[in-house]
Amino acid sequence: MRRKVTVVGAGHVGATVAMRVAEKELADVVLVDILEGVPAGKALDLMEAAPIEMHDSKITGATNDYSEAKDSDIVIITAGVPRKPGMSRDDLLSTNMGIVGTVTKEAATVAPNAILIVVSNPLDAMCHVALDVSGFPKNRVMGMAGILDSARFRTFIAMELGVSVENTHAFVLGGHGDTMVPLPRYSTVAGIPITELMPPEKIEALVQRTRNGGAEIVGLLKTGSAYYAPASAAVEMAEAILKDKKKILPCAAYLEGEYGIKNLFVGVPVKLGAGGVEEIIEITLTDDEKKALQASANAVQNLVDAMKRLGK
Ligand code: LAC
Repeated sequence: MRRKVTVVGAGHVGATVAMRVAEKELADVVLVDILEGVPAGKALDLMEAAPIEMHDSKITGATNDYSEAKDSDIVIITAGVPRKPGMSRDDLLSTNMGIVGTVTKEAATVAPNAILIVVSNPLDAMCHVALDVSGFPKNRVMGMAGILDSARFRTFIAMELGVSVENTHAFVLGGHGDTMVPLPRYSTVAGIPITELMPPEKIEALVQRTRNGGAEIVGLLKTGSAYYAPASAAVEMAEAILKDKKKILPCAAYLEGEYGIKNLFVGVPVKLGAGGVEEIIEITLTDDEKKALQASANAVQNLVDAMKRLGK
């Protein structure tokens, strides 16, 4: 049976996700947006690239109509407004919580067994909206961010050491915000911790650049935020789920006591397979790392509390 991935939001992130899912022939793709014509236009354009790219994935586009999304295996939510220079992800809270709530309701109605991957910002808070509105079990609602933040860290490590990105591995935990927690002890090149390969000041500089990674791109683009790497990260999650790979990846997952954090979405290593978040992996943290993760969780909690005040 053909698999189906619905991508909500046909902007840069959504369209790039659609392209990568189709070109990897992971599934048929339904692109939904509120804009008239845009999802259909991008879908047709992607279909017309298929004979050259050599895939038979079907891509369709729809405006405000979720009927094509019926029984999707995965729904990737990218809808919402992106940051402008000078804005933090948190500044998007009140606008995007409404948008994410509306689209989650529509998608959950037609695809009640789907797994939801949230990409919209502020990421961890938007996962709460998706969980609440869908009523899905926690293993079927998750957020993309740790893979993106880790990929940025890996890029900077590879650039610094002049090694292949393929040799790099990195873990970034916590919320997808300014308080995210890159973990140098668990970040390696060919299995060697980077703490043995670089002086602490250099590692600190790469950590800071990772934390600022989204803002660095916003500052360059000026009219929006990053999309190639965020799309790659979301598609890695979709692939792990569709192929039941049991891949260990950092994702925003709903914690119920793990890492001492309760009833909150925070980025942690999880096992991704056909069941969605099949397991939350608890790694040992030093006291400083624990403190940093708790501070990041507190920042997410503040946003969740703010949403309650805004009357979600
Ligand atoms: C970023 C945005 C997408 O980190 O959150 O680039």
